Amino acid sequence: MAMTREQAVEAIRTQADRDSGRDGRDFLREEDRRLEQFVLSAAGLTFDFAKHDVSGEAMAALLALANAVELDAAIQALARGEVANQTEGRAAQHMALRGGGKDEARKSQARAELDRALAFAEDIRSGAFTSSSDEAFTHILHIGIGGSDLGPRLIHDALSNPNAPVETRFLSSVDPDAFERATAGLDPATTLVFVVSKSFGTPETTLNMQSAIQWLEAGLEGGIGRHLVAATSQPDAARALGFSDERIFEMWDWVGGRYSLWSCVSLSVMAAIGRREFERLLGGAQRMDEHFIQARTAANAPAISALISWWHRTIRECQSWAVVPYAIKLRLLPGWLQQLSMESLGKSVTVDGAPLDGPAGPAVFGGEGPDSQHAFFQMLHQGKDAIPVDIIAFATGGEARHRTSLAANAVAQAEALLTGRNQDAAMAELTTKGLSQGEAQKLAPHMVMPGGRGSSFILGPELNAETLGALLAFYEHQTFVQSVLFGINAFDQFGVELGKKLASALEKELSAGESGLHDASTSALLRKIESYRR
Ligand code: F6P
Repeated sequence: MAMTREQAVEAIRTQADRDSGRDGRDFLREEDRRLEQFVLSAAGLTFDFAKHDVSGEAMAALLALANAVELDAAIQALARGEVANQTEGRAAQHMALRGGGKDEARKSQARAELDRALAFAEDIRSGAFTSSSDEAFTHILHIGIGGSDLGPRLIHDALSNPNAPVETRFLSSVDPDAFERATAGLDPATTLVFVVSKSFGTPETTLNMQSAIQWLEAGLEGGIGRHLVAATSQPDAARALGFSDERIFEMWDWVGGRYSLWSCVSLSVMAAIGRREFERLLGGAQRMDEHFIQARTAANAPAISALISWWHRTIRECQSWAVVPYAIKLRLLPGWLQQLSMESLGKSVTVDGAPLDGPAGPAVFGGEGPDSQHAFFQMLHQGKDAIPVDIIAFATGGEARHRTSLAANAVAQAEALLTGRNQDAAMAELTTKGLSQGEAQKLAPHMVMPGGRGSSFILGPELNAETLGALLAFYEHQTFVQSVLFGINAFDQFGVELGKKLASALEKELSAGESGLHDASTSALLRKIESYRR
């Protein structure tokens, strides 16, 4: 008989106790089949999980947990398009956006809209679709926030190049400086304003859209309709604001904003990189979908990664997770992943609304490799708390010496986290440098690095549209598996609502110079803002 979740968790804890005092260094030495078991391939990427402090037996116990929570059934239900967002009664069919999964009806619905968007993007690129003054568009102002910004911004930054026929500026924040920067040097006559909002009611996006429309009106002699394009699941709301039907692209409530980059939401990216490249991005993601749906759990890269994350969070009580791409083109990956992971897994109740009996997702942070090494890596190596890390690197691309140096740095950090440096090694290093025994003894404790710190190494042959698609889909699936293990809903985000509601009330008060009923600190802050303004 299959174990219950509780029994499986208990068995993992027992195994963790048995393994106590040992880590990846020991397991790599002792386990003959370790690399076979812990190094996986998926969609052209290699995933090396072997350095984690998870023994072969502990992994077997984690796989029993996956079995106990019926992970495979959950994956298949997600792929079929069943309701996965229980609180909102919706499917989560981001796989259908890229032709993956098993929901044929939604796949063809998504394909038709994608084809419309790709064709429109090609017309922008070629200059076939022109502005109100009959000129080719030179710029796109992409307005959106959260999932309507982070994904498109990331893939644009990763894949576009300076020779793109149109330049895209992204505008998400309501900070007046953000609007000024985004429009600096732009000519309304050749700028297309692309408003991305699933709800078409997000206050930040609405305000930026209103300002952009005013900016167009001030710079054009009529015909601003040709400059306005929308991507939304609320086409009526866009229509009501004057967007014309042929320039409204549809998304659906069965795709969460943070999972939507594969759709018309990325029209500005399609215009920058063209149809072929965008299709390659989707192709890479679809290959990862196939792997996710078909591979048995023990060989399933997103599932194993999620089980290891669950281990670090629940058994080792690690509160955070660092993600470090050794690729400048992926410098925006941590920001995208923060929303994907923390909006999906930042929950305290189960799917049924009961309080969680353990933790849920970790806090995510990260940055581009070499820069991060000179920023937060000190804490990864010698800080009190162990922080699991994902290191992402690519073997080829660009000038050989730089590429080699980059790859060497990525591998060296993973190795240093694992091997560490003990007191004897520190002493030897210091005395070789000429320090006296006494001086070396004083300094050595500062040089000791505990080691045994696990990292996942994700290696690709080259960073291109296809490997990028596979990588991003990997993280989407990894997030979903974590939610199944924690027993939470990955697809709602009620926590962000209250702040939005309060902001709108406060905005009215600030505009009218009034103050409603607030706690003493909030009231004092409002008074201070007013006094600075006077
Ligand atoms: O941050 C909250 C949120 O609801 C996200 O989930 C979403 O990606 C973002 O706002 C933007 O929402 P919309 O696309 O509806 O404007």
